[in-house]
Amino acid sequence: MGLSRFLVFRLPKVLTESRVMDYGRSLVMVVVAFLCGFRVGFSMTNEAHVKNFISWDDIKVDEHQIKLSDSRVNHNRSRVIVVNKNGEADSVTIQGAIDMVPENNTRRVKIYILPGTYREKVTVPKSKPYISFVGNSGQMSNTIISWGDKASDKDSNGVFLGTYKSASVTVESDYFCATDITFENTVIQTPGEPGMQAVALRISGDKAMFYKVKVIGTQDTLLDESGSHYFYQCHIRGSVDFIFGNSRSLYQDCVIESTAVRTGAIAAHHRDSPNDDTGFSFVNCKINGTGRIYLGRAWGNYSRAIYSNCYFDNIINPAGWTDWNDPSRDKYNLHS
Ligand SMILES: *[C@@H]1O[C@H](CO)[C@@H](O)[C@H](O)[C@H]1NC(C)=O
Ligand SMILES: *[C@@H]1O[C@H](CO)[C@@H](O)[C@H](O)[C@H]1NC(C)=O
Ligand SMILES: *[C@@H]1O[C@H](CO)[C@@H](O)[C@H](O)[C@H]1NC(C)=O
Ligand SMILES: *[C@@H]1O[C@H](CO)[C@@H](O)[C@H](O)[C@H]1NC(C)=O
Repeated sequence: MGLSRFLVFRLPKVLTESRVMDYGRSLVMVVVAFLCGFRVGFSMTNEAHVKNFISWDDIKVDEHQIKLSDSRVNHNRSRVIVVNKNGEADSVTIQGAIDMVPENNTRRVKIYILPGTYREKVTVPKSKPYISFVGNSGQMSNTIISWGDKASDKDSNGVFLGTYKSASVTVESDYFCATDITFENTVIQTPGEPGMQAVALRISGDKAMFYKVKVIGTQDTLLDESGSHYFYQCHIRGSVDFIFGNSRSLYQDCVIESTAVRTGAIAAHHRDSPNDDTGFSFVNCKINGTGRIYLGRAWGNYSRAIYSNCYFDNIINPAGWTDWNDPSRDKYNLHS
């Protein structure tokens, strides 16, 4: 799938059969069987102008062109919106740029975000598909979207936010993509303290692509909620259940970094029915950091997570997985 020009999001149905042969500072092979492979190609819907796939072009902005022109006057506003926190662009905030995108948008809109830390809580609503967030090429740590809500915080009506609404960035729309951006939640979880779930990025739209993106938090960092998503060369950091949700996602060539002090867990997949075609698939990833963490906790009765050709630092709990205190969830756990 890697560098193919067009990506169609038919991720593999993964078999839950995996065998962890060895832990420790070595390449760990997990045997994975794929029922069906990746489909690479492209197709169009009936409306010629609506693209039902994401291409590499969608995360590219001609930076040279933008620098040469006065973005307020010359460039094609319908395609690129420039955000600069210091002004002299289309918007000083990212939410301001999203607000400029028409509802029921059918064309790709690239939001080009100049370097800086944007302290704002951002939502891409369901009604605004085909949005790209593009940072400066090769500098994913220079453009940061940062907020610090946690589950136990209250909204203006005094109601607890809960985990889902704690997200710094929420993406509900389809065909979203992002590159060279850091999504951050600044809350630092204290072990044992309730209500510390603090999501950096929540994605519930279908068919999303993240390329060279950082997602930084501690507990519940990345809510990979629903839909088919592709994370390529991303860096995800957290301590407890820091990749969770019920998506069908491929994490390829990613760094998965644990900041757990003692115990923790990477994946908390939430598949609740044997008919769900969801699962987290980690391929060619590097798992490093601190603590003694589980590869996964079974949040749902039929949770699925696969690690294939991954490098593991010596931080994995030898048990590998945990059943969330429900032994019935061990039934389908075929790893040994
Ligand atoms: C603006 O976007 C339209 C639609 O894609 C395209 O046809 C046109 O060439 C663009 N104009 C410029 C100046 O880039
Ligand atoms: C967008 O689509 C929805 C659902 O079809 C419709 O209810 C809404 O009025 C549309 N909004 C605009 C601004 O066209
Ligand atoms: C994990 O690996 C990444 C990529 O090589 C590196 O940037 C990061 O510093 C490493 N983390 C730790 C704790 O070693
Ligand atoms: C999960 O399994 C438990 C125990 O078998 C059962 O009580 C529960 O209803 C199941 N949950 C769902 C969502 O199916």
